[in-house]
Amino acid sequence: MASITIRQLDESLKKLLRLRAARHGRSMEDEARTILRQAAEEAGGEPPETVTPPTAQTTSPQQTDTAPAAQVRRVLLIIGGGIAAYKSLDLIRRLKERRIALRCIITKAGREFVTPLSAGALLGRPVFTDLFDPASEFDVGHIRLARETDLIVVAPATADLIAKMAGGHADDLASAVLLATDKPILLAPAMNPRMWAHRATQRNLAQLVADGVAVVGPNEGEMAEAGERGLGRMAEPLEIAAAVEARLAPQPQPLRGHRMLVTSGPTHEPIDPVRYIANRSSGKQGHAIAAAAAAAGAEVVLVSGPVAIPDPPGVAVVKVESAREMLAAVERALPVDVAIFAAAVADWRVAAAGEQKIKKTAGKAPELALVENPDILATVARRKTGRPRLVVGFAAETEQIEAHARAKLARKGCDWILANDVSPQSGVMGGDRNTIHFITRSAAESWPPQSKDAVAKMLVEHIAAALAGDLA
Ligand code: C5P
Repeated sequence: MASITIRQLDESLKKLLRLRAARHGRSMEDEARTILRQAAEEAGGEPPETVTPPTAQTTSPQQTDTAPAAQVRRVLLIIGGGIAAYKSLDLIRRLKERRIALRCIITKAGREFVTPLSAGALLGRPVFTDLFDPASEFDVGHIRLARETDLIVVAPATADLIAKMAGGHADDLASAVLLATDKPILLAPAMNPRMWAHRATQRNLAQLVADGVAVVGPNEGEMAEAGERGLGRMAEPLEIAAAVEARLAPQPQPLRGHRMLVTSGPTHEPIDPVRYIANRSSGKQGHAIAAAAAAAGAEVVLVSGPVAIPDPPGVAVVKVESAREMLAAVERALPVDVAIFAAAVADWRVAAAGEQKIKKTAGKAPELALVENPDILATVARRKTGRPRLVVGFAAETEQIEAHARAKLARKGCDWILANDVSPQSGVMGGDRNTIHFITRSAAESWPPQSKDAVAKMLVEHIAAALAGDLA
């Protein structure tokens, strides 16, 4: 590799370099190294492990070791403050063995357990520690740390770090990077079993999972504290490395190029400006389907009634209140290849909703005249023109599930029905799990009890197969 020396630069360039170096408090050689490293990273390559000083003539073997830009997989490892931090040193080795380009941040508490020197020695480059350290801020900066990676791994993820993430804090480098990133995040929690089981930790974690953060571990076993055992040990470095590999692997996108519509949540049918009629529905299943379809590459429009859960990532969300608004939004979203009707639409609305709040009169309840709402699923399934290739409905049943679902499929004119048991003892309503009977015109399958996310993935697989012509 050719080398350059500062002396050989022309005078005007030397002057600029001198000024820049002075501004950043570095030597001219260090400034030149920083500029070269930034240029290499901006070009998309793995940041060089070592930058040869401009005057040196030799080439280190590490420099020729960089993978082509397209194959470089980049991970930012954040080491939090817990006894498990010693295992993160091994994790650095495991990730490097897998030819992953690594950067590392150690939190203040993390530095009580591992030193930046030991992590930096394994990493082959300095680690980042401070939000307000001018050297590292000028070198890379927290926004670039947050963005120039394919995945952020937090190991160990302490209860405190998890709480800061859930609350959106940004008062140190690690939390600022986690707030500024638009990249996927994988947490490897590690803490005392009581801290892990505490409602605050579980609440924070549930929030992060709902935000799309992935989690590996914790495992069950002995704690550092004598005599303590339980759930809270950080996953082993090999387990974390496998989870990292899985997350970095290109995800199959079988629905790429397909447009999909999903309805979700309840509808609210006004009685007057403060009262309404509605079905019970959390929107969890419909939202999970929209998220899974988007992850599979589909362009997704989600028409949602009022729900208390966040919008799924990567999905265009249209928020509506009533069945008639939902139908209008659905018709605006057409044409689509696939339409999935997971909303619990109210069957009736009040014929003449009061413009003002209906006053309560003792001993005299108002009589509400109801009219039937449009059946959105049947309206779309029976379209003469512009009918989606695949129209899928849900059937919430409390008995004779398959027979009722099959009758519904015929009545509504849809292609598939996902029937589920919503009898109170099933716990489906508002819960995270679902047991589906998948019914087509010619077949039926019983899916195992599983999370609503897993149901969504299974449905997406069936849709992909159908669009590829493999299913009736
Ligand atoms: O008739 P039932 O409400 O049991 O049918 C359930 C299926 O029909 C679900 O897929 C639901 O989203 C859809 N549906 C609809 N519009 C309605 C009623 C139900 O799209 N008015």
